[in-house]
Amino acid sequence: MELYLGKYNLILFEKIDIPKKYKININHQKNEFFYKNLNKEFEIELEIHYSEKNDNNCIAMFIDPLGNVRKKFYSKNTLERDIKEFINNLFDIDENIYLRKSYRAISNKKIDSNLLDLLIYSAKLAPSCANKQPWNFVVVTEEDKLNLLKESLPGGNYWAKNSPAIIAVYAKKDDDCDLSDNREYFLFDTGMAVGNLLTQATKFGLIAHPIAGFDPLIAKKVLNIPNNYTLITLIVLGYYGNSSNLSEKHKETENSIRIRK
Ligand SMILES: Cc1cc2nc3c(=O)[nH]c(=O)nc-3n(C[C@H](O)[C@H](O)[C@H](O)COP(=O)(O)O)c2cc1C
Repeated sequence: MELYLGKYNLILFEKIDIPKKYKININHQKNEFFYKNLNKEFEIELEIHYSEKNDNNCIAMFIDPLGNVRKKFYSKNTLERDIKEFINNLFDIDENIYLRKSYRAISNKKIDSNLLDLLIYSAKLAPSCANKQPWNFVVVTEEDKLNLLKESLPGGNYWAKNSPAIIAVYAKKDDDCDLSDNREYFLFDTGMAVGNLLTQATKFGLIAHPIAGFDPLIAKKVLNIPNNYTLITLIVLGYYGNSSNLSEKHKETENSIRIRK
């Protein structure tokens, strides 16, 4: 089938009269745990095409501006309602982006190594300057090594001691673009990879909490990371556990709304 790039397209396989314009109303004021004040309204206009060819038994197909088929519709009776609902969901914030939160009530339950592999894979799917992929990840699950690594944590990060897996993220300047005007991209690109990883971990129902609070000399020594690399963050991983051992301040942030400017 021909792709219709650049517009939201609806391919209809029957002559059905359907509105072109749809109002989107994103309102997250009700979800107080994540949003204080997010209320957006806008309108999109679909380009409607009729087609005879259909091997899928569907009566309509929604195609996004990148040419991807995003949804097939099967019921003529509910088509208009289904399209409205689909479009509204399409413009919602991705649920793994909003559900991600730096929780601290980490349980010591082990994480399947396949999930850990997928986390790293999701990180590597990030874009990077000239595809340099400057990032390096070490997944630490082995108990002795994990305990040694945890010795690099200061008192304030006491909550991370329960974690069954920590991912150390390191990179060096020479492994990425270094452009004029101090545009060194190694930290930026590695950050994007970590962003993917955090969102993917959320999808798996995992807490993935990045920290800067560790002693880099101790951590680098435990992990054999050469000195010319920057150990950027440790990502503390785990399933949600018991919050009763957290400090009063951390118990509060555990249940508080995520503050944004
Ligand atoms: C680079 C970086 C360093 C961080 N260091 C710590 C840390 O050492 N200890 C900690 O408890 N949280 C740490 N955090 C978590 C932040 O406090 C948290 O992301 C921020 O308050 C926003 O909350 P949210 O992640 O729940 O949305 C760090 C986050 C980032 C991105």
